[in-house]
Amino acid sequence: MCGIIGYTGMRDCVPILLEGLKTLEYRGYDSAGITYAKDGVLHSVKAKGRLSILAERLTEPSVEGATSGIGHTRWATHGAPSDKNSHPHSTETLSLVHNGIIENYAQIGDRLSREGYVFLSDTDTERAAALLDFYYKEVKDPKKAIFRLCRDLRGSYAFGILFRSEPNTIYAIRRDSPLIVANTEDGCLISSDIPAILPYTRHYYRLSEGVLAVLSGKEIYFFNEEGESVSQTEEVVSWNVEEAKKGGYHHFMLKEIHEEPEALRKTVEPRIRDGFVDFSHELPDDTFLGSVKRLHIVACGTAMHAGLVGKSLIERYARLPVNVEIASEFRYRDPILEKDDLVVLISQSGETADTLAALRHAKSKGIRTLAIVNVIGSSVAREADDVLYTRAGPEIAVASTKAYSVQCSLLYLLALRLAKLRNTMTDGQIAELSDLLLHNVPELIERTLEQSEIVRRVASTIKDAEHIFYIGRDIDSSLCTEASLKLKEISYIHSEAYASGELKHGTISLVTDDVPVVALATVSKVCEKTVSGIREVKARGAYVVTVTTEALAKQYEIPSDEWLILPNADERILPFSATTVMQLLAYHVSALKGLDVDKPRNLAKSVTVE
Ligand code: F6R
Repeated sequence: MCGIIGYTGMRDCVPILLEGLKTLEYRGYDSAGITYAKDGVLHSVKAKGRLSILAERLTEPSVEGATSGIGHTRWATHGAPSDKNSHPHSTETLSLVHNGIIENYAQIGDRLSREGYVFLSDTDTERAAALLDFYYKEVKDPKKAIFRLCRDLRGSYAFGILFRSEPNTIYAIRRDSPLIVANTEDGCLISSDIPAILPYTRHYYRLSEGVLAVLSGKEIYFFNEEGESVSQTEEVVSWNVEEAKKGGYHHFMLKEIHEEPEALRKTVEPRIRDGFVDFSHELPDDTFLGSVKRLHIVACGTAMHAGLVGKSLIERYARLPVNVEIASEFRYRDPILEKDDLVVLISQSGETADTLAALRHAKSKGIRTLAIVNVIGSSVAREADDVLYTRAGPEIAVASTKAYSVQCSLLYLLALRLAKLRNTMTDGQIAELSDLLLHNVPELIERTLEQSEIVRRVASTIKDAEHIFYIGRDIDSSLCTEASLKLKEISYIHSEAYASGELKHGTISLVTDDVPVVALATVSKVCEKTVSGIREVKARGAYVVTVTTEALAKQYEIPSDEWLILPNADERILPFSATTVMQLLAYHVSALKGLDVDKPRNLAKSVTVE
């Protein structure tokens, strides 16, 4: 949550900072602010609301000629979005931006109030800035003061700091929140994420925890707590700035849904060799998978919903018991973990605080961990014992789409590899399914995408509903959980997902005249049962939209008011098509309502706080 950017060098910093904040807005966008140094003086400008409001307040010529500054785009944790709570937070000696949560901020505030500090905001960050100010006045050395501050803080942080005494030097340090630094031809940058530095360089350093970066404008120096110079590994971005742009689509979400065929190819192709799943590039010896007795899939939100699909697949094909856990619960509820268990963490960003904490919990219990992550080199990827990368490329829209689809495909591969190691399927069966994943799924999604206009028309029939239910059985019920989340997060329509047999145990009381019920029916063995569920809701006046194939609709005489017909395909890969249709449905509902599809209210792309 929250995006940080900083630049010091030879160019005007304000346009660079604004551009960077625009790129980082996916991390939070309820307020923004900038501190820039001009003629040796620090100036701060902040604004509640979108970046455009801040940009309007940063009028030239006052910002012209300012060549160092820090900026922040906020996702509120402590204190409502407002000018006063926006970052940077400044004191007599410094200005600071922060991503993370300082857990002991109240104690710090009390202590500093006794020293005469007065706080203007409700934020934890202002307390941290004040504590740094206090130490800096005492030791008169920015490096020593920053390390003293960090020793006192509980919680997570990535800081970008400007001292009034050295307005052209940026200091940066982090714990449990991401931060990268980069050197360009004409200056140095800090950023919460890679896309913001891509217009200037592809080379960057992912700052190690506890290492202080000092950016002079020409050079970057790294120091440990003892004040010794340390080195950091330079990394190079493998994707380009175009991949992170909208490419002609109205919204990133729509673009990213259209990228699914390619993302699926990139994720599956390198892992199929001679017809079988082969992880040897990434897991030189994956035979340990064969002796695993139980899997715990741990993740948040959409990634956790992919875990539910994974559970269906792994239990079905590899006959291995799987628990799916919400990461924020797993870390605190002392789960039963045994020596032959494997904890699988799924995360698009690889920076989700709860998922990272769950990973650390599993490791502290001596349990082996495997991460399924999209962002290369992210914290979850680095800390897990093993990692399998999804290849979705950058995902900018807050609502996750292509990342979910590739997570499901990777779990499919994992299920097949486990099935091979555990001898629960014949080689022929495994080869057949691998081939479907490799050759048929991307093409199936391409055909599904051709129906976007039909989905849009159906979306127009449900867009004004107050409540929408999703029902399905077997793997369809897992797909429903994600379909429902997608709809509610971007359309603000209340929605719930139910295994269709469960609806009659209470929730059906909410189904009245014209309440839309979206029924997923892709699994023939339970289709008759799904039809019963549809009849039950129709009898109570529901407006039913059924997502199925023409063949299943005919064979089971499915009653429905509206249809979203999936292309004919092998039933075992239909979930991929149903997923894309559900994502398109949520997208079109939101777009038709004129909402901010890519940046829904109250959310952020990367949830790096608890
Ligand atoms: C919803 C969504 C979130 C994320 C969740 C975990 O569309 O994107 O529910 O899935 O915050 O994020 P990652 O996968 O980055 O750990």
